[in-house]
Amino acid sequence: MSTAEKVDILLLGAGGREHAMLRKLAESPRAGKLWAAPGNGGILAEAELAEGLDQNDPAAVAEFAKTHGIGLVVIGPEAPLVAGVGDAVRAAGIACFGPSGDAAQMEGSKLFAKQVMERAGVPTARYKSFTEQGPAEDYVRELAGPCVVKADGLAAGKGVIVAQTTDEALAGVRECFAGQFGAAGNTVVVEEMLKGPECSLLALTDGKTVIPLASSQDHKRALEGDLGPNTGGMGVYSPVPFVTPEEHEAMVEVERKVVAQLAADGITYSGCLYGGFMLTKNGPKVLEFNARFGDPETQVVLPRMKADLVDVFMRCDNGTLDGADVSWDDDWAVSVVLTSAGYPGSYEKGKEVTGIEEAEKLEGVTVYHAGTAMVDGKLVTNGGRVLNVTAVAGSFEGAREQAYKACELIDFEGKTLRHDIGARALRGRSAWEL
Ligand code: AMP
Ligand code: GLY
Repeated sequence: MSTAEKVDILLLGAGGREHAMLRKLAESPRAGKLWAAPGNGGILAEAELAEGLDQNDPAAVAEFAKTHGIGLVVIGPEAPLVAGVGDAVRAAGIACFGPSGDAAQMEGSKLFAKQVMERAGVPTARYKSFTEQGPAEDYVRELAGPCVVKADGLAAGKGVIVAQTTDEALAGVRECFAGQFGAAGNTVVVEEMLKGPECSLLALTDGKTVIPLASSQDHKRALEGDLGPNTGGMGVYSPVPFVTPEEHEAMVEVERKVVAQLAADGITYSGCLYGGFMLTKNGPKVLEFNARFGDPETQVVLPRMKADLVDVFMRCDNGTLDGADVSWDDDWAVSVVLTSAGYPGSYEKGKEVTGIEEAEKLEGVTVYHAGTAMVDGKLVTNGGRVLNVTAVAGSFEGAREQAYKACELIDFEGKTLRHDIGARALRGRSAWEL
């Protein structure tokens, strides 16, 4: 296909990750008409919404793509991937960015992922899996201390209980088997607790070639000092300054081994494979895999990436990723998440958002929409995570300063943020317990 040939694109998802993907796709000389579903208040200004299209319905997505002459479907979130939307789109003869339903089990089943990791011989926490409560409780008592209890299936980021005590772990096991996470908790994985800083390493792959993307670090806890409940992510930066070249190579090697193992098992993994790692004193160990780009990691990784994203995504689908051209800007990105007061608990919606245009006038600043909507011509809050305020600059400190300056210019009732995104990383690795 010549570079001049344009491709109409349908992007599935509604978060800051999708807004960042859309902006990068739009930069490509090959980007034709852009469609999105369900989208958000920022996405709808830059793409046409596929009104009423259910992103989790494989047949409906494939049908929409066929009737609208879409040449590439890009799947942002995990639910459509696990539901097999990628399979239906490919069966209709249309290119798709995102793994098949089988391959997405790397995220859809923690036990599946553990078994692949075992076969591939990659370092991860020791574990056992259970389909009955009694034996799971016995194992927790046997561990007699901190451990992590995980519902096997997708639980919207809530199915992981990081337990400091046996009692907390037992409560977690009971929650899973009581159906707290639905069918996702019918199988439970109990694993050893790992210590160290976390690091995300996303990689693009066509099932053979693996291209690692820049490292990044999310801030999952709601409150400053990494306290409070887990959230979908309160802020992120890239790259991670204290990762050694050896650690980076070890993480890349894990990604390569997993893709090769899946291929040996008869599964072609194409799309983005997200490795979540703990940088332990014995080297990086896998915490989890996701079958997609991270949110909010994408909001700091893509702005620094020099590549034609349409070309790269097509190559992931058609098995020619070895010919892709991907390089990195030599700078830093920091993104701060502005949330609604009360998040991750209950919060109000519909508050008018102002100041985005002013914020984006600052050098290096981009504001990605997450939970926003347009109502009667006004931009309003429509979710817990409202905006991702990203700044790219020549230094880590500079990017932090610029992101926080931009956050000051944006306003909505209940605006809440962490002021310490990246602060711990600036103190270095010694800021983490090892
Ligand atoms: P997961 O969805 O498996 O990544 O788990 C969500 C979060 O729980 C991770 O980002 C870690 O902060 C934490 N976590 C998961 N597994 C472990 C582990 N084995 N040791 C310590 N923390 C963990
Ligand atoms: N940032 C964590 C995730 O995307 O799952």
